[in-house]
Amino acid sequence: MVEFKSNIKSIEWTQKEEMNGVSKMIDQTLIPYEYKYVEIKTGQEMFDAIKTMIVRGAPAIGIAGAHGVCLYAQEFAKTIQNLDEFKTKLKERAEYLISCRPTAVNLRWAVEKQIELINSSNSNIKELIKELIKQAIKLEDEDIKINKRMGDYGAEVVPKGATILTHCNAGALATVGYGTALGVIRSAFAKDPTIQVFADETRPRQQGARLTTFELVMDKIPVTLITDGMCSYFMKKGMIDMVVVGADRIATNGDTANKIGTYTVAISAKYHNVPFYIAAPLSTIDTSIKTGDEIKIEERSHEEVTHINGKAICTEGVKVINPAFDVTPHELIAGIITEYGILRPDYNKSIAEAFEKANK
Ligand code: MRU
Repeated sequence: MVEFKSNIKSIEWTQKEEMNGVSKMIDQTLIPYEYKYVEIKTGQEMFDAIKTMIVRGAPAIGIAGAHGVCLYAQEFAKTIQNLDEFKTKLKERAEYLISCRPTAVNLRWAVEKQIELINSSNSNIKELIKELIKQAIKLEDEDIKINKRMGDYGAEVVPKGATILTHCNAGALATVGYGTALGVIRSAFAKDPTIQVFADETRPRQQGARLTTFELVMDKIPVTLITDGMCSYFMKKGMIDMVVVGADRIATNGDTANKIGTYTVAISAKYHNVPFYIAAPLSTIDTSIKTGDEIKIEERSHEEVTHINGKAICTEGVKVINPAFDVTPHELIAGIITEYGILRPDYNKSIAEAFEKANK
C-alpha cells in the first residue's frame, strides 16, 4: 500500500477553552506560494472566508458553514441570555451563511443540519453550543470516511495504467481530507502506481493549476498540467482513458453542476468515447430539484476574468461575464461515484435507491 504523505486536513474545529473555539483552515488563496493555516474566530469572518474562497470546494464549505453557526453561537452567548431570542438570532445568521455561495448545496445541507439541531434541542444555551460543536466535528470526521469509501468504489472502474483527466480541485483541499475525485485517484494509485493524472488549469481561478497539482505532487502521484482548451486534443490522441470530477449540486435526474468548463470536458469525453464520472457524496444530491435547470449558478467578480494575480490581462473596459459553474446533462455521465456505490443511469432510480440504502 502506498502511504500518502500529504494527509491534508483542510478545515478543523479547534477548541481553545470552553466557549472559545475557532475554525482552523488552510488559506487556499495562498497556495502554491504559501501553505498556512488561518484561524476564523467569528461568524462574519467565516462568511468572508467562504465568499473570498479562503475555503472552497462543496464539502469543505459545508463544514465551514457548520463551524460558522458555532462561531455565531459563541458570540451571541456573550450578550443574549434568553434561549428563544438566542435561537431566533442564530437561525437568522445561519440563513445568512447559506446565502454566501449559492450553487454548492453542501453548504445549505450542513447549515440546515445545525438549524434542525437548534430547533429540536431542549438544552440551555451553553449545552446547545456544545451540541452544535459536537455535530460539526462529527460531520468533519464523517467527510473523510465517506471520501475513502467513495475512493474504494471509484478505484474499481479505473483501468490499469489509466491516464485520468480531472477538472478544478475536488481533492483533500475541497473536502475535509482525501477528496472526492482525487479520493478516487488516491485509492486507484494505491492499488496501481502506474496510473497518472492530467489536470485542467481551470480558469478563471486556476484551482487545477494551483491546488490539484499541489496535492498530487505532494502525494507523488504523476500529474501533467494542461490548459482548459487542450482536453479534446489529448482525447483525440487516445491519451485520456477516463474523466473524474467532483460536483457542487446534483439534481435527482443526475444533471450535475460543477466548476465552469466541466460541461465542455463532458461533451468532448462523450464524442471521444471516454467514460466521464462524477465523484460526490449523497450530501451533494439535492433531492428537492428534478433537473439541472433549477440550479442557481453563482456569478463571480469580473476581476477574476480580467486579472491574474492582480495584473490585468486584457484591455480596460472590456465586457465580461463570469458564471462560476455549469451543468453537465445526465446523458453525458457514465456514473456517479458515491459512498453507497457507483450510481448508473437511470439516475432517478439509482439516486432514489441510494437514499433508501442510506436511510436504512
Ligand atoms: O468554486 P470552487 O473552487 O468552490 O468550486 C469547486 C468545484 O467546482 C469542485 O469541483 C466541487 O466543489 C467538488 S469538490 C469535492
